[in-house]
Amino acid sequence: MSRLPAIEPQPPLVSGHLPWVGAGFGLLRDPTAFFQQAREKHGDTYVVDAFGYRLLCVFSPEGVRNLWAVPEAQASKGLADYALLRHKVPDELFAGRRTFPHDLFRSDDTSTYLKNLEQAVEEQLDELGSSGEIELFDLTRRLGHRVGLASWGGVVGDCSHYLDRLIPALDRLDASDSFVHPHRGLIAVATRKRAAHRAIATLDETFGEIISKRQGQPADTNDLFSRICAKWDDVESPARGVGIARDVVLVHMGSQSNLFAAMAWTLIHFIERPELIEQARSDSSLIDRVAFESIRLRQRSIVLRQVLKTTELSDEKTTYRAGPGVFLATMMSVTNTTASPDLDVFDPGNYRGPRFNRAGELSAKELVTTFGHGKHSCPAQVFSVSAIRHSVGRLLDRYSLVKRFRDPQPLRRQLGGVARADRPCRVEYRLR
Ligand code: HEM
Repeated sequence: MSRLPAIEPQPPLVSGHLPWVGAGFGLLRDPTAFFQQAREKHGDTYVVDAFGYRLLCVFSPEGVRNLWAVPEAQASKGLADYALLRHKVPDELFAGRRTFPHDLFRSDDTSTYLKNLEQAVEEQLDELGSSGEIELFDLTRRLGHRVGLASWGGVVGDCSHYLDRLIPALDRLDASDSFVHPHRGLIAVATRKRAAHRAIATLDETFGEIISKRQGQPADTNDLFSRICAKWDDVESPARGVGIARDVVLVHMGSQSNLFAAMAWTLIHFIERPELIEQARSDSSLIDRVAFESIRLRQRSIVLRQVLKTTELSDEKTTYRAGPGVFLATMMSVTNTTASPDLDVFDPGNYRGPRFNRAGELSAKELVTTFGHGKHSCPAQVFSVSAIRHSVGRLLDRYSLVKRFRDPQPLRRQLGGVARADRPCRVEYRLR
């Protein structure tokens, strides 16, 4: 492990017996328990060596606050994400992008997506029909694809039938697999990402057809898809179509990590508490509170920053100098549930809209995170909460939902994003 970048002074080290693998297997088995146990043994600041990476992990108020504040030029989130995703996703998807989620959501102007989002939810409800049984994460995954692709991909109304081609291709490409099922990243490397290349070809072709179909039809020039298309107006087809398709796909991949899982836990927490459903039917602000609380409690995101230039990171006692190549890290599932007493218990009273009511009790506000803090916080927060509020609201309004599941918990091995469940969460639904 001597080739790993230096940290001065060196905090306690969590490693393993195997060279290169280091603490990797323990980390992948149950990341949340791994970080928490290491914290109990070594204190709030320690180093983890795993699979050739060196992580400087901080969990104390000062350490976590300072981690969120490190500038991108010093220690990069973009590069850290890329280090995780590049095992799964072909480079050609990242090259030459013209639209990023920040551009799309900068103004937080809901009029650019609300109409399409609402229409997509109605189309999903029509597909569900009047009664049946469904697994909640399957439902919200499809709903997440629908509301996303309707909003930034033009896939709504006349174009909705393209979903059946787009969804399997997007699922094959799903970058969040890299952290939900890390072994799938290894399979992708072993097969030279063949499945991902085929998926990109399908997506290029399908969006080519969607663009042709929209040509000549009256389109809303302010919706998100039109704004993506406009960025490629100076480029000839077919390169224009490919550029638009890949911009849409990259935005969509950002959404696949969290949105559908957050929607599913919001529904689970409601369905487990029928009295809350009754309240939500007359007070939709309760949906927002349940959504924020569900995200807080089921958050499995690791905060990772890859050091580019030697960076100082201080906790309460020591200033550490981390050399280039070190990853600075903390784990939201650990701090979100331990920063104050009883934070491991579900309580929608913890939120008023996006505001965490117990922030005053925390020794650093960054110890509790739903959509992040500072410069890297989620650009799609307002969109996501609108999508959850509307989707969950319409489902609760239209159907009686009876649970056919018992006490689902977060998938233990997940490292990143909002948790998937450790068991199927089936629900029976029928029109009210
Ligand atoms: C409930 C849904 C969502 C949750 C809980 C969530 C959570 C987060 C969090 C915690 C971060 C900060 C991570 C960090 O700093 O390490 C983040 C960043 C980000 N999110 Fe989301 N997110 C959600 C939905 C979305 C959607 C729908 C999109 C895309 C359409 C998106 C795109 C992004 C991007 C691009 C960043 C990186 C921002 C940057 O680096 O400056 N997110 N999100």
